[in-house]
Amino acid sequence: MLGWTMAALLALGLAQEAGSTPPEKIKVGVVLSMTGDTAAFGEQTWAGLQVAKEMKPKVLDREIELVLVDDKSDKIEAAVAAQRVVQRDKVVAILGEVASSRSMAIASVAEAKKVPQISPSSTNPLVTQGKRYVFRACFIDSFQGEVIANFAVDHLEAKTAVVFKDIAQDYSVGLASFFKTTFVKRGGKITQELKYQTGDQDFSPQLTLLKSEPPDVIVVTGYYQEAAQIAKQARGLGLKSVFLAGDGAEAPELVQIGGAAVEGLYFSTHFDEKSATTALGDAYVKAFRKKHQTAPDGLGALGADAYFMLAGAIEQAGSAEPEKIRTALEQLKGFEGVSGVITVDAKHNTLKSAVIRTVKNGEFVYVATVNP
Ligand code: PHE
Repeated sequence: MLGWTMAALLALGLAQEAGSTPPEKIKVGVVLSMTGDTAAFGEQTWAGLQVAKEMKPKVLDREIELVLVDDKSDKIEAAVAAQRVVQRDKVVAILGEVASSRSMAIASVAEAKKVPQISPSSTNPLVTQGKRYVFRACFIDSFQGEVIANFAVDHLEAKTAVVFKDIAQDYSVGLASFFKTTFVKRGGKITQELKYQTGDQDFSPQLTLLKSEPPDVIVVTGYYQEAAQIAKQARGLGLKSVFLAGDGAEAPELVQIGGAAVEGLYFSTHFDEKSATTALGDAYVKAFRKKHQTAPDGLGALGADAYFMLAGAIEQAGSAEPEKIRTALEQLKGFEGVSGVITVDAKHNTLKSAVIRTVKNGEFVYVATVNP
């Protein structure tokens, strides 16, 4: 009797192996801030990732399954989320985060567990520095700082600048310092350096210091919530300086919160449909507009690029094993992504163009593309 059961079970197993069940899905962890201070970052990135997944749902004939975990805009939660997708879901790679501080928290898990991580949009140099398993789809802040500083000097003819930085964010601190280096090198003068922290609401103590000697430009290197508030309170105090920001300002909330105060603000970012240079970029713009009925942004484009980089690496490796993906990512050269051509260098960074956008009548408008 027992023998018969075994035989039957074996036959069943064999029958399954013979092909009725589809091949196992490739699980990919996605750690993003879907709620909290920077919920817009998670939402925008996820919007782009979904489009990318619809454009390329399978690799090596296996479906990709995205396992999304919300880190609530918190770096400890980000590390916990990374642990969870690796241990519970057995993901072969992690996509995320947007904020550099949170990407670094995830990176410690990626390194320890030997699972590749691709940050779509974390621009602080330290995110990948000295890491074997951490990659990114975007340019870094030494370049971004230079782009903003050159824009201030060449297009805004700024001679004086005040830098406003969020000391709770590695991104903000780094970008402020890179801006300063180039601005000073180009003959500009930093008249004040002001500090705040994520979550702050009242910036009048710092802004009041600028009333006697307002600078040509106020450079806010933090994220959209605080950038919008700073602009609003500055205008409230009668300050007329031009506002300049980095990619962290890019969210619809900048305009929703800042209203008229953010009109004329300039920021650097990674993509605009007018800056698309690749066939994949064009296809993405079409697919994005169709699915979301709005214009694509930098975060979504980079989310898609992180996905396509991973899919490309799996194809190149002919395997979804983490170690093989890691090696293939390291060898990725001249990859025609959505936001431009991606070549992973020895430090796991990539040289890409930046885009300057401005706020005009409550919309983000393309100004220029700056090549490295
Ligand atoms: N570059 C920012 C960081 O490193 C994240 C960001 C990218 C935010 C693009 C908005 C748009 O923290």
